[in-house]
Amino acid sequence: MAHQLVVVLDFGSQYTQLIARRIREQNVYCEIHPYTLAADPAKLRELNPIGLVLSGGPSSVYEEGAPQLPASTWEMGLPILGICYGAQLTARALGGKVTPAERREYGRATVKILEGGANQGVLRNMAAGEELAVWASHGDHVEGLPAGFVHTAESENCKYSGFANEAKRIHCVQFHPEVVHTPRGAELLGSFLFGVCNAKADWSMASFVDEAVARIRAQVGSDGRVICGLSGGVDSSVAAALIHKAIGDRLTCIFVDNGVLRKGERDYVATIFRDHFKVDLRVIDAEDRFLTALADVTDPEKKRKVIGYEFIAVFDEQSKTIENARFLAQGTLYPDVIESVSFKGPSHTIKSHHNVGGLPEKMNLKLVEPLRELFKDEVRQLGLELGLPHHMVWRQPFPGPGLAVRCLGNLVKARLDVLRLADAIIEEEIRAAGLYESIWQSFGVLLPVRSVGVMGDARTYEETLAVRAVHSRDGMTADFVQLPWEVLGKISSRVINEVRGINRVVYDITSKPPGTIEWE
Ligand code: XMP
Repeated sequence: MAHQLVVVLDFGSQYTQLIARRIREQNVYCEIHPYTLAADPAKLRELNPIGLVLSGGPSSVYEEGAPQLPASTWEMGLPILGICYGAQLTARALGGKVTPAERREYGRATVKILEGGANQGVLRNMAAGEELAVWASHGDHVEGLPAGFVHTAESENCKYSGFANEAKRIHCVQFHPEVVHTPRGAELLGSFLFGVCNAKADWSMASFVDEAVARIRAQVGSDGRVICGLSGGVDSSVAAALIHKAIGDRLTCIFVDNGVLRKGERDYVATIFRDHFKVDLRVIDAEDRFLTALADVTDPEKKRKVIGYEFIAVFDEQSKTIENARFLAQGTLYPDVIESVSFKGPSHTIKSHHNVGGLPEKMNLKLVEPLRELFKDEVRQLGLELGLPHHMVWRQPFPGPGLAVRCLGNLVKARLDVLRLADAIIEEEIRAAGLYESIWQSFGVLLPVRSVGVMGDARTYEETLAVRAVHSRDGMTADFVQLPWEVLGKISSRVINEVRGINRVVYDITSKPPGTIEWE
């Protein structure tokens, strides 16, 4: 590996991914591993990290069966940053005492820097007596420090908010530097990286591109061919651009027009990939095939199944005509990878790759997953680095089953066309209001509900458009967006004036839970 590595040992904190992101933001590469990795010190050594971070976690260190580390972890001479559970574990393992706290500390707290820690280690830019706003979350506390440790920080509810052994380069904090509610947290992590671990800041998107290109070439060999299902979404687009950079025309992309795409989608993708990047792109017009298979299907799950099945069938047929295709590209991201190796076991909440699920086994293809190490925001940066347009890199997510799950009732072309037009107006107006990139998803849903209206002197009796806009971090929970009335008014009047087939527009004010983001 050409760059340095910091390892985060995960004890199950909800913030573990944030630790890795805050470290990578400072151009130091960081990987998360389950704490069980350290059970075999040789495995940890093999990774050759420049420092270790022990994450927080929900357990109590003194409980039966609580996650532990072998004593050797603290004797390897590696710089260690213990955060919350990681701090308590360190204190206990080295001879200190951890007990349930009388006054627990959850949420905002103020930590005071003490003489013992001021201007050194992770507190290197912080003077004695200085107060830090922090985010705390713990019910246990350290009661006695291990030998050799100094007391570096305290708060009202937690005496040992910070403690360290400078000589051994072990630093502990009883709060979360990785969350935004600890405003100087990134600086503290930076002090650990650059002040304690002597990190070089040698990880950047530009260097990632070089490494990833070399890795793809090594995996695929000199004559291997990769196929990639391009959806127009951020992940598959960035994966395709990266693989294309590595192996040029030995990448074939397949874009399936399934008839339930957004307005102009097919041309949009073809213009970028075929005209601009000169990628070997096959655009498959399968609209009739999909709509025939979907005729009279109104059940949401059935729609999904039919689309998934047809997609695999089309993709399989196409790929058989591509000679020497031995690899399939997938836009798997780091959060999926962490979930599947986490000591808690794979999470059932993750939805991944519905569209190509089952393909690799069926077609006997090996996977190329060049984004496996990246977080979503890094994938966006990478896209820009590779020359993809800003517009594409910042697209809102779009579900694999497309407009099929937004066109309630029968999926006939005429109704899909109505929805396509209305949806495009929503996107235009949300963009014009400067809101598009701050919203997780904004779109229209066509309801098979007719109501009476009057336009000019004529009575109308047409269907209803529901406008949906939600804020979300990961799609798991969501809040409806309080769109400005002017924006809603503009959408409503444009849709009713410009789209034949809709005479009423309503706004969906349901959050998730209890609603889901999509209507079906
Ligand atoms: P729900 O509707 O479950 O959606 O709240 C959560 C997020 O997942 C997207 N979504 C899908 N994406 N295939 C996909 O690729 C699907 O079948 C699918 N269903 C929902 C949805 O757009 C939202 O971002």
